[in-house]
Amino acid sequence: MSLAHGCDLVWSPEIIDKKIVQTTRIVNSQLNTVDYVIDQPIKSKKHGDSVKRSVVFRTSHAHERGNLIFQLGSADPTVAVDAALKVIDDVDGIDLNCGCPKPFSTHAGMGAALLSTPDLLCSILKALVEKVGKPKNKPISCKIRMLDTLESTTSLVEQICATGITNLTIHCRTRDMRNRQDPRWMYLPTLIPLVKSKGISVVINGNLQSRTDILNMRKVLNDEEIGGMIAEAAECNPSVFSATPQNAKKTVLEFLDLCTKFQPENLANIKFMILNLVPGKSKYYMKFAHSRTLEDFHKVADEMKDDDSDLVNKFLVKDCQKQLVLTQEEYTDFINKERPDEMKYALSRKPGDPDRGDIIKKQEQEAAVARKRAREAEEEQANKKPKAVTCN
Ligand SMILES: Cc1cc2nc3c(=O)[nH]c(=O)nc-3n(C[C@H](O)[C@H](O)[C@H](O)COP(=O)(O)O)c2cc1C
Repeated sequence: MSLAHGCDLVWSPEIIDKKIVQTTRIVNSQLNTVDYVIDQPIKSKKHGDSVKRSVVFRTSHAHERGNLIFQLGSADPTVAVDAALKVIDDVDGIDLNCGCPKPFSTHAGMGAALLSTPDLLCSILKALVEKVGKPKNKPISCKIRMLDTLESTTSLVEQICATGITNLTIHCRTRDMRNRQDPRWMYLPTLIPLVKSKGISVVINGNLQSRTDILNMRKVLNDEEIGGMIAEAAECNPSVFSATPQNAKKTVLEFLDLCTKFQPENLANIKFMILNLVPGKSKYYMKFAHSRTLEDFHKVADEMKDDDSDLVNKFLVKDCQKQLVLTQEEYTDFINKERPDEMKYALSRKPGDPDRGDIIKKQEQEAAVARKRAREAEEEQANKKPKAVTCN
């Protein structure tokens, strides 16, 4: 859906190497997709033996060919290569996830855990470059987070750049930082020229909200070649890549149509995604949350279609996880907003400097205290004035 709305490249979710190697590739002629599936035999005395099929990875060449990067979770060069070779002919590049801080990834040494084992990280990348990227003529890339100091980040990036990768995505937060915190850009003026000097492209990630944000970032960093990756903002509106993004209602309807066509069996994912698209205070939020079947989702969507007063007619924005619901005019202002101050602050920040979010929160709290004091003073003044008295 993002590709249809102006995005250039999409990454699959992180898929673990051991999982993808267990799959069987099938051509799904009904959907016109290529599916990587695992069939699990289910034994049941009551219902008889059956097979449960789960789709681990599905791609539609008609929609994604030329623009799809497969993201791998791995902590082992040999398994990583086996996994990448399995899917490489159906995708346009392989990216190694070195940024996921979630235990399902880190407990096995994958994701952000690789940032602490740079030799292993680089051995996986080198193996992917030599055994998959070169023979198949496809790019190998990786996505990292910042480390705590410029020195350690620079040293890691130098090591990674020597592996033969063609792109490095930098999520400008450290492993311990959450998405609601401002990304740290202060190392970028050192890191970007370093990566580019090796002939490797750079993609920046972290709280970018729109196409305009990416253009602003290029302006502030004085570099027209940097790419921007948008995650949560696209998760709450995949049309955010377009110069004219669409409101929540249109987005949900389009998304549900796509799900019905391509992933009708994956109700948990459909619900997760729809609840990201619908403003929390919309009356349809709880209706979608209580939906259990695809028919339920469609029933709610049909009801929503003709409702012109609900918040779904507006635009949902998650700016550092603050949910804003904006009118068309407010949204147009928002996506066209120049954010040079914000971006310059991120660039000039020193380790330990507060988040812009914390500064704004403090300013808001101070303003609220000032308003309360002013109200109290007014009331005190009013109490001092003689009261009107009525006499019979
Ligand atoms: C629900 C969810 C799932 C994510 N899954 C992945 C993933 O599979 N691979 C990955 O590299 N990053 C993943 N991320 C992290 C995002 O790609 C991105 O780095 C992060 O959200 C910061 O970007 P943003 O500020 O634009 O959201 C995920 C984030 C969220 C919220």
